[in-house]
Amino acid sequence: MNEIHILGKYPMYGELEVQGSKNAVLPLMAASLLHRGVTTLEHVPDITDVGCMVRILESLGAVVVREKSRMTIDASCISFCEIPLEEVCKMRSSIMVLGPLIARMRRAVTYYPGGCSIGRRPVDYHIRLLRELGIKILEEDGRIEAVAENYCGTVITLDFPSVGATENAILAATGAKGETVICGCAREPEIVELCAFLQAMGIETVGAGTDRIRVWGQISKRDPHVRIHGDRIAAGTYLAAAAVAGGEITLTGAPVTSMKATLQALCGCGCLIQTEGDHIHMKAPRHLRTIPYLETTVYPGFPTDMQSILLAVQCCGAGEGRMQETIFEGRFETAAQFNKMGARISVESALPGCEGCISAAGCDGMGYIARIQAGEGLHGAHVTATDLRGGAALVVAGLGAMGETIVHQCHHIDRGYEDMVGNLQKLGARIHRITGT
Ligand code: EPZ
Repeated sequence: MNEIHILGKYPMYGELEVQGSKNAVLPLMAASLLHRGVTTLEHVPDITDVGCMVRILESLGAVVVREKSRMTIDASCISFCEIPLEEVCKMRSSIMVLGPLIARMRRAVTYYPGGCSIGRRPVDYHIRLLRELGIKILEEDGRIEAVAENYCGTVITLDFPSVGATENAILAATGAKGETVICGCAREPEIVELCAFLQAMGIETVGAGTDRIRVWGQISKRDPHVRIHGDRIAAGTYLAAAAVAGGEITLTGAPVTSMKATLQALCGCGCLIQTEGDHIHMKAPRHLRTIPYLETTVYPGFPTDMQSILLAVQCCGAGEGRMQETIFEGRFETAAQFNKMGARISVESALPGCEGCISAAGCDGMGYIARIQAGEGLHGAHVTATDLRGGAALVVAGLGAMGETIVHQCHHIDRGYEDMVGNLQKLGARIHRITGT
């Protein structure tokens, strides 16, 4: 049993420091394989995906030491190049180890990570870019083997600004002879943070944060020591929690500049938000309202990871709204759980004739649409988390519902949130966790 019990509508007050970013620390941990020395990361979040990545690095021969939120990774003696299947199955982003492993070992073996409830999540973009770099990829029965004695820099073009594929391309390109130009890159802040980390180990790149990044083949020159930035999605989640529960909170250590679209959406729901440096102060409105139309897009647009969390906020408001998901085809799975709490959400393909399409990405950006008719508010219910952000969204919905909500399968939340229940308790939420057989 793994349940979170919530009594809704208890206003939240106080201050919370934002945890380190899951989607920044995972690629940095993978990139530490490039360095024949010791990497030090500060402000590492205590989440299960980090634990999974630690096991992957250790299985390859790295030595990882964690002291509270400081992590050192000694990758001087990497001796293996096969990522364990059991870890690949637990965490899709294990695919990000492929690029640095090829650059370091010239050979790497992993497996198709498979889909999850937010979508099919193929890795074809990753495979294609490695082949464009001249790396030989053998695929058989779900197993992927990459062999690259010597490969040369070239021009790679991504069909879709995939975050993970951009990260893999950058890391693999550091092992190429000469210059690689990656076109059609993702522009997420996590890409900028990855390139700053490479810079800290003496590997130069140009263009991070734009859709064109240049990478030169080179080896690391010094021990990198960096601090992981605040998690923009975790920050948005805690603001959403206070928005539905009522009250007034301040977040510190927040990556304010990369949260513009999220903060704008919360203001659209009636929240009063002020920012100063890395502090965000938010006062919940007496009555939330829905946003007439909102679409998830690639950065700097409204992030797909905030979609279900903002849907929860809108369900606690009043009015009609439409939310369009253009990145992951399965990301409205949590809508059915909100409906168990009294929400009135209907989901349909945004483009007639798209029924059954397998990926929202790369289509003509139409994706899927959720129509929300809010007004009666939410009531407590038994609900089940099916993915990380959907689980967090159900906790938010519970904080804004009348009565008790019980979120089952809440282990999904531990993948990306450090002590979410403890943090919400600190802010005055009536919430507790029950784990056991
Ligand atoms: C990263 O996933 C994040 N994960 C995701 O956060 C985030 O939602 C996503 O980027 C988009 O911002 C990490 O950074 C660890 P993509 P990633 O490649 O890299 C399709 C969370 O909750 N696609 O940009 O896997 C894919 O199916 C997680 O923190 C292919 O078709 O996302 C999706 O529809 C969830 N083929 C779209 O592209 C590929 O080879 C965007 O995926 C790769 C992706």
